[in-house]
Amino acid sequence: MNQTFQTPALPTTMRAMVIDHTGEADVFREDAEFPAPPRVSDEFLIRVHASAVNPIDSKTRAGGGVSGAIPTFPWILGNDFSGTVVASPYEHHPIKPGDEVYGMARVPRGYGTYAEYASIQMMSVSRKPTSLDHTQAAGVPLAALTAWGAVMDVGGARAGQRILIHAGAGGVGHFAVQFAAHAGAHVITTGSTRNQEFLAGLGAHEVIDYTTERFEEVIEPVDTVIDLIGNVADDTGTRSLKAMKPGGLLVNVPSFSWPNFLADAAAAGMRATSYKVAPDARVLDAITALIDQGTIRVHIDRVLPLAEVAEAHRLLEHGHTRGKIVLAVS
Ligand SMILES: NC(=O)c1ccc[n+]([C@@H]2O[C@H](COP(=O)([O-])OP(=O)(O)OC[C@H]3O[C@@H](n4cnc5c(N)ncnc54)[C@H](OP(=O)(O)O)[C@@H]3O)[C@@H](O)[C@H]2O)c1
Repeated sequence: MNQTFQTPALPTTMRAMVIDHTGEADVFREDAEFPAPPRVSDEFLIRVHASAVNPIDSKTRAGGGVSGAIPTFPWILGNDFSGTVVASPYEHHPIKPGDEVYGMARVPRGYGTYAEYASIQMMSVSRKPTSLDHTQAAGVPLAALTAWGAVMDVGGARAGQRILIHAGAGGVGHFAVQFAAHAGAHVITTGSTRNQEFLAGLGAHEVIDYTTERFEEVIEPVDTVIDLIGNVADDTGTRSLKAMKPGGLLVNVPSFSWPNFLADAAAAGMRATSYKVAPDARVLDAITALIDQGTIRVHIDRVLPLAEVAEAHRLLEHGHTRGKIVLAVS
């Protein structure tokens, strides 16, 4: 090898939106001099251009979610990132300083991405889709990885399968509908009146307006339910059991949304499991290829500056985001 590797000047401090304790959305505070995260062992140091908000961020900020595992305060939340590599784990790594990457942090095992820099494990870093800019790309990782895991890996989406996906217009849901349709399944999804056209445009074969219809009364039985709501709204989880074929599989995604889902499903003669997203760059690479082919698209509801993360959380907590809310960091 005769390449010369130049070590860039590494940042010592950075701008970040931090929390000093859990609480309402106004707990966020801008810190212009937060210590930049040191890159160690198999990590990349990444200059974050855009982040995105996810329900796990707002649940954690509010004192639920994974807040019990936050090791210290002040802390930085945020899982999604799209940005530029500042330093690679080792000189010969194919992803080099200056390359454009995206992925998902593993918060709170490390600091999050509501910040100018993040240190991210090598196995969680993918090349950014060339067809997306950073603000679009930041809307993909956590939501699309969750959708892929629930729909493809656990749900086994395939031709001939009837699959019901709740909350198809949300961050996870809009990818879930597209993945299931791409796999050849017959996709039925739920959304409010204003999202009917949007959902059909994602490839759903049947769209149920949950504000005017009871899905379990109007659809033919399904093989699989991807439950992104649980029983936090209108007993969506329990009612889903009435919409399934005997022995069907229910995948409950939001933790704590339906504490008795396993027992309830078993009593109804159904199979059930939860699902937890993992920041796996190999899976994200497969999703990237589908995005760059034009097969799968991300919908960005709006982009806010990082300093307005509190407003982004308030909007997300209304529960009616279409696609993703992104934070422009730099
Ligand atoms: N286990 C994991 O690893 C994991 C990973 C990611 C997410 N999650 C969880 O999964 C859930 C969904 O996440 P997300 O990011 O997709 O959330 P999100 O983007 O906030 O979802 C918003 C969507 O939910 C729809 N919605 C609200 N009430 C509904 C109802 N009663 N029936 C059907 N649709 C409804 C809204 O559509 P309308 O505006 O049309 O109402 C909106 O488009 C969250 O609870 C999140 O914490 C878990």
